Amino acid sequence: MTAAKKSKGLRQCLDIDQHIYDLLVPISYLFQTMIRTSPRLLLAALALLAYSSSTVSANELKGNPQAGESKIASCIGCHGIVGYQASFPEVYKVPKISHQNGAYIISALNAYKSGERKHPTMRSVAQTLSDQDMADIAAYYEGHGQAVSVPEQPAAPSAKVNELLVKGGCNSCHGANYSAPIMPSYPKIAGQHRDYLFVALKSYKTDGNATWGRANPVMGGIAKQFSNAELKEIANYIGSQPGQLLVVPQAKFR
Ligand code: HEC
Ligand code: HEC
Repeated sequence: MTAAKKSKGLRQCLDIDQHIYDLLVPISYLFQTMIRTSPRLLLAALALLAYSSSTVSANELKGNPQAGESKIASCIGCHGIVGYQASFPEVYKVPKISHQNGAYIISALNAYKSGERKHPTMRSVAQTLSDQDMADIAAYYEGHGQAVSVPEQPAAPSAKVNELLVKGGCNSCHGANYSAPIMPSYPKIAGQHRDYLFVALKSYKTDGNATWGRANPVMGGIAKQFSNAELKEIANYIGSQPGQLLVVPQAKFR
């Protein structure tokens, strides 16, 4: 059960808008983590607050997985081939998106469409999608393939990696096992391809490049605290944990 669902009563009691409430949940987690760990996370909390104003209007269309299935022909060539690699700006495996959170898929596609995420191929893909297409595709991929259950706790990291994870407060937003993010619009990251995780983390450090980078204020504030070597260690650890994300091989012509 998600934190948001658990405290629905509290929200009603306080009589506040669901969007505002949804934002208070991660902010309160962050503050708890900050007190325990690093005051630098305060920056992330503030960024989240600022970011909230740009996302509260995100519209909530209902996605239809059957309709989604008819809209993914152009995705299969990359996301439906096991081991398929992208070559820009370096070689890495295209992300696993089956069983990713639907709300996060929509959010990521919108980030490519708006240019917050600059990856050129995904930008041109996302530009062809309407809000309804994104909702349908997200509903499709969220339930795509065999669901697997994962342990609530991941394997203990080395002391060094543990220090990095604590400094970044990673599990306070992505969940103790990195498969249970506190918000549906946040990604599951456990078991994602390690080389993709590394590239994604580096991309949050990149501002002002025309064809590369992600201008996400939340992850930007977090990723910029680490060297690339540290990000690689984090990515290798999280990518090696059991997760729910999958690449489901699909034939292009069915
Ligand atoms: C030419 C190969 C290619 C095609 C075609 C393609 N993708 Fe992608 N996709 C990628 C790559 C590479 C990335 C990682 C980009 C980055 O680094 O931000 C990506 C990223 C994504 C992400 C973000 C994943 C995450 O974990 O943040 C989503 C969602 C996504 N693609 C969905 C789709 C959908 C839906 C389609 C079809 C409508 C599609 N893609 C078509 C290669 C492709
Ligand atoms: C305050 C909450 C928060 C914290 C703390 C946090 N993240 Fe994130 N993370 C997010 C959000 C929100 C996104 C989606 C950003 C976007 O839309 O690009 C994200 C995205 C990511 C992605 C991209 C996933 C993908 O599929 O492309 C990775 C990798 C990631 N986080 C890893 C980490 C790691 C490692 C840490 C700790 C060092 C961390 N996060 C800490 C909220 C957080």
